[in-house]
Amino acid sequence: MDATDGPPILKLGVEDAIAGLVLSTEAHWNQTEEDWRIFLHDGIVFGIRDGMRLVATAALLPYSGNNAWISMVLVSGTHRRRGLATRLVDACLETARKNGLTSWLDATPDGVAVYGPLGFTPTLQLRRLRLVRPARADAPPSSSASIAALRARDRRATGFDRTALLSAFAQRFGSRIVSASGAIALVRDGRTARHIGPLLADNAAAALAMVDTIAHSETGPLLLDAVASQAAFLEGLTTSGWTIERPFQRMRFGPATAAAEETPFAVAGPEFG
Ligand SMILES: CC(C)(COP(=O)(O)OP(=O)(O)OC[C@H]1O[C@@H](n2cnc3c(N)ncnc32)[C@H](O)[C@@H]1OP(=O)(O)O)[C@@H](O)C(=O)NCCC(=O)NCCS
Repeated sequence: MDATDGPPILKLGVEDAIAGLVLSTEAHWNQTEEDWRIFLHDGIVFGIRDGMRLVATAALLPYSGNNAWISMVLVSGTHRRRGLATRLVDACLETARKNGLTSWLDATPDGVAVYGPLGFTPTLQLRRLRLVRPARADAPPSSSASIAALRARDRRATGFDRTALLSAFAQRFGSRIVSASGAIALVRDGRTARHIGPLLADNAAAALAMVDTIAHSETGPLLLDAVASQAAFLEGLTTSGWTIERPFQRMRFGPATAAAEETPFAVAGPEFG
C-alpha cells in the first residue's frame, strides 16, 4: 500500500482525551485522562478513525531547545499491521522536521520494530519495574521539596527545561515531590498504579533509600522506569521485591541536541522521557 493510501490522518483535540484513553487502556498502559490532556493541549496528536471510532494515535510533545518527545503510538488490536503506526509516526517526524526539532522516544519492543526502519537510532535503555504490594503505609510522609528544586535537577539530567510538564504533574491531586539526602523524586497517580519519576539522586544508595521511603508511605502498587545503566539501583530494586516488566529502548531521530550533566535513576515515564 502506498504511504498516502488509507484513511486520513487527523489532528486530534482535547475532546478526544477519553477516546485516547480507551486505546492506551486496551494496551494495558498506565496513562490517565489527565496525561492525554497534556499531549492534546501542549502537543500535537495525530489520529486515525474507523468511522467514529479512534483506532490509532501518535503524539509529538515539544520540549525546549528544539527537541520533541514522540509517544502514545497506539494502534487498536483490530487494526494492526496495516501501516497505521508507520504513517502516524511519519506525520510526527514531518512536523518535527518542519520545525527543526530532534525527536526522541522510548520504544516498547513492538515499537522498536516500527521505529528502526524509519531511521531512529538507539540511545539508552530503560526497565519498567513494578512493586505489587508496598510495605504497609506506616512511615510518616517523607519531606516535601519544591517544584523549583525538581525542575532544576531534571534539567541537569535531561538537558530539557520541563517546567510546564513537571508543574502540571505536581499540581494534580495526589502528586508529591519528595527529597532526602541527595535524592529528589516526583510521585503521581496513574490509571492502575502510582508512578515514581523522575528520580534524581547523588548515588544508587540515595536513590534506593528514596524509593524505600516512598514505598513505605504508599498503599497501592507502584511503577517506575529505571535507567538500565544504573546497575546497582536495578539490582537493589529487584532484591527488595520489585519485578522487571519490560524493557524500553530510548531512540533519537536527528542530531543530539541536549547536553545531560547527570544520569537519572528513573525517568518521568516512557511517554514523557
Ligand atoms: C507497535 C504498534 C503501534 C504497531 O502498530 P502497527 O500499525 O501495527 O504498525 P505498522 O503496521 O506500521 O508496522 C510497520 C512495521 O513494523 C513492524 N512491526 C509492527 N508490529 C510488529 C510486531 N508486533 N512484531 C514485529 N514487527 C512488527 C513490521 O515490520 C511492520 O511492517 P509489516 O507489517 O509490513 O511487516 C502496535 O502494535 C501497538 O499499538 N502495540 C501496543 C502499543 C505499543 O507497543 N506501542 C509502541 C510504543 S513505543
